[in-house]
Amino acid sequence: MIHFNPETQTFNLILQRSYYAMQVDAAGRLIHLGWGARPRHANPDDRISGQTSHRHYETKASFETQRLPLEIVPFGDVVTFQETLKVNFPSLPRDTAVGESLHLPIRDLRLRYARHDIADDAQPGLSPTHGLPVKNNSPRQTLRIHLQDPVQPFAVILCYRLTPEHDIIERWCELENNGLEPVQIEVCHFATLHLPAGTNELTAVTGSWAQEFMARRQRLHQGSFVLESRTLQTGHHANPIFMLNRPEQAGEESGSVYFGQLAYSGSWRLVFEQLPQGDVRVHGGYNPFDFELKLAPGERHITPALVQGFSDSGWGGASRQMHAFARERVLPHSPAGPRFRPVLYNSWEATYFDLNYENQVALARRAAALGVELFCVDDGWFGERRSDRAGLGDWVVSEALFPQGLEQLVQEVHRLGMKFGLWVEPEMVNPDSDLYRQHPDWVLHFPGRERTEARHQLILDYGRTEVVEHIFTVLDNLVERYAISFFKWDMNRNVTEPGSVAGKAIWYKHVAGVYSVMDRLRQKHPGLDIQSCSGGGGRVDLGMLGRADQVWVSDNTDAFDRLHIQEGFSLAYPARCMEAWVTHEHNHITRRAIPLSTRFAVAMRGVLGIGSSLHELAEAELAEYATYLRFYKQIRPIIQEGDLYRLQRLEEFGGSAIEYMLPDGREAVYSLVVEKYQVDSFHPVIPLKGLMPAAMYTVSDHHGLELYRLSGYELMTLGIPKETQWYPGFCQTWHIKAAI
Ligand code: GLA
Repeated sequence: MIHFNPETQTFNLILQRSYYAMQVDAAGRLIHLGWGARPRHANPDDRISGQTSHRHYETKASFETQRLPLEIVPFGDVVTFQETLKVNFPSLPRDTAVGESLHLPIRDLRLRYARHDIADDAQPGLSPTHGLPVKNNSPRQTLRIHLQDPVQPFAVILCYRLTPEHDIIERWCELENNGLEPVQIEVCHFATLHLPAGTNELTAVTGSWAQEFMARRQRLHQGSFVLESRTLQTGHHANPIFMLNRPEQAGEESGSVYFGQLAYSGSWRLVFEQLPQGDVRVHGGYNPFDFELKLAPGERHITPALVQGFSDSGWGGASRQMHAFARERVLPHSPAGPRFRPVLYNSWEATYFDLNYENQVALARRAAALGVELFCVDDGWFGERRSDRAGLGDWVVSEALFPQGLEQLVQEVHRLGMKFGLWVEPEMVNPDSDLYRQHPDWVLHFPGRERTEARHQLILDYGRTEVVEHIFTVLDNLVERYAISFFKWDMNRNVTEPGSVAGKAIWYKHVAGVYSVMDRLRQKHPGLDIQSCSGGGGRVDLGMLGRADQVWVSDNTDAFDRLHIQEGFSLAYPARCMEAWVTHEHNHITRRAIPLSTRFAVAMRGVLGIGSSLHELAEAELAEYATYLRFYKQIRPIIQEGDLYRLQRLEEFGGSAIEYMLPDGREAVYSLVVEKYQVDSFHPVIPLKGLMPAAMYTVSDHHGLELYRLSGYELMTLGIPKETQWYPGFCQTWHIKAAI
């Protein structure tokens, strides 16, 4: 609910369990009043009146004025601390410029309240345009507060879209140049968040290729701490998600936690700033590195969203809110499509670049026999792509590999009852390709400089509309011709020479181009699903989840490493989009040998996929795979749509125990995987959550064997009866179901 008190000029945003309040002060500035828990038992009309909160500060130069918690901090009103927005005006408007023409351009923006309205259909920038519904399409209210510069013809509309059931507010800005000359925006965060003083324990994820999403908890100190991406995509080194709480005041299931995420897949930045008095601010948006946004006269720019939320039930509660938000409000949800994400087979680790019709058909037959539902042919099916040195960009089926055309394989995959998917990397080109030979100017580069290759490839210039158009046409034709249900959309290098016909705007235009191709494809082919992959987990964010059904989290499929990667991923993203494969016994990256049971236990925590060389497996092992797949299909509604509880985190003992639970408490999945264990050492009691105390539950394993029959009360106090023997790799994946 959005409420405005005209007397005190106070805004109250009331969500299910949290509030957000701000007020226009005597000078017309929009001041943040507070954000946090609503007192328990508060009535819907209990509000902050704003009677006592008018503050008055004399001079702009005073430290008090400089650290006023302005809802948006313009460089101009504030210079001493980090700004939300910095704008360069080329001159003073003619009627005000009386004898004042020096010191141009003017790097000074002041924003004063003009008016506000409430909209039912407002959308942040780069929202999906594919038209596919999400699970919950009910309208949401957006408060739009219009702020105007008193001198310059420049306006900013601050937008707050409320999702009260998840205590989430999406924030974005609409920037309007109402003048006669272009303006240049130098710094543009989508929003600034103000947190209570001392909220300085930060949980975030950092990492690199093959070890994405490493969760870190650290204390902020006075000054700024920056997380960012300077690549064209979301990046491997950090992901735009965070949680903040007062140190020692939050735990996995308790305490106040503030959280946020950026819905943007390009170069982003999050600045965590602690002021001298302990106030904490978070600024999130476009990375100002090599940034420039020009607004022509009359032009307006709508930024993507910074999503913010508040949880009163610890980090676990914050994660569940973000998961529910992504599942219900972000991920595409076609009513015509399957209700749950299908079990996928991907041929990459089985055949790499040695693929051909025969080996793919053989894999497909084996996969279908196991119960796989979607068969995806990975890299190497096109052009001269027999290695990573050539062919990228030539999206034409190789006749040498598929003499009868790809149709023959597609038909067989369909006959076997599976959907057909294909790997593509539509932003790239090998110099050794027909595309590059025809259009050497279609790549990002700076004239006169070397075009640095990575994995022997260059990046297409999505600043050129003809490139974006070409890619759309090529992919559209593939979908039409081969009845493709699934693209694994990859992106395998970082940018080194970001030279584009679009100039510095390429950072934004690349993202907008990728989104537009995905949106148009989905619009035209509602049955097409997309998986986002970028050398593993390099492009995972809420912007991408608006058009990708699932994401590849890491190229590292080692089950033990994956436990850590998946735990970090789970801080913000739901299992429904977390693709996880069972691969070979000896992992292709770490070379570690891990038992099949452990590999399945870890992969079944998300959207199960298989990437093993099925042709090398004995019948007995294939039968084990089939048993797991049957079991997974039984429990996937709980995994893909249930609430996640991290019962024991990896940092607490040498393993991880999680539970997925359907909200009605009737069914749950318990998953324990031990990574390190010293004989006879600490062996935690792991009580379950969310069950009905009085109900009796059966606890069954993947064979469907009933192991225990226990009350909800017992499962939520003593937990699952303990095994005496633990060892690295020990695992339990159990289906817990209320006995009727
Ligand atoms: C990337 C992906 C892999 C695979 C290869 C193919 O590394 O992350 O899963 O698709 O490309 O070249």
